[in-house]
Amino acid sequence: MNRHGGNDPERGEDPLAGLSLGRVLITEDEITRRVGELGERITKNYAGRPPLLVGVLKGAFMFMADLARAIQLPVEMDFMAVSSYGTATKTSGIVRIVKDLDVDLVDRHVLIVEDIVDSGLTLSYLKKGLSAQNPASLEICALLVKTDQQRVDLNIPYVGFEIPPDFVVGYGLDIAEVYRNLRDIRIMVGATS
Ligand code: IMP
Ligand code: MG
Repeated sequence: MNRHGGNDPERGEDPLAGLSLGRVLITEDEITRRVGELGERITKNYAGRPPLLVGVLKGAFMFMADLARAIQLPVEMDFMAVSSYGTATKTSGIVRIVKDLDVDLVDRHVLIVEDIVDSGLTLSYLKKGLSAQNPASLEICALLVKTDQQRVDLNIPYVGFEIPPDFVVGYGLDIAEVYRNLRDIRIMVGATS
């Protein structure tokens, strides 16, 4: 039986076969505390120049919602959706914009809000595209950064947690579109990150 509850061969192979939900890496409480700290730092650093938060869908939606409420400034928000070619767990670096921004970035203080940085290829691509639109400033806030995995040099001033190079799910992060609604961040056992 597959995860849809049937044996329908039309659905093809189960993308979650051989994988299981592993231990909690970061608890809901730890996330809440850290997001609060990031919000305080951003509030201080952007005083007098409220940022435009640009959330990268879908993974960043939950982090964006909490972070925005932890910032005591009149922020604006917009979202981009990207889809990157690759396997279920690995980005190829070829990124396609599925939903572009609605607002103009010229002279705006833009803060990209991303769920997780692995190779860094997705963010590097996004950063190039956004900086070409002449924002007043452009910085990155990433909830998670996988230690020593980056293939490009990204300067990320706001990092929630540095984590080992395991594949993780929860708090917005998915594997094959599931587990985004977990409150904690957990390791996926059997996934090659
Ligand atoms: P990068 O381009 O290799 O940095 O990959 C970044 C994107 O891949 C993220 O925005 C996520 O959508 C996805 N990703 C990378 N690692 C993980 C993970 O451990 N869990 C869930 N998604 C991941
Ligand atoms: Mg994803």
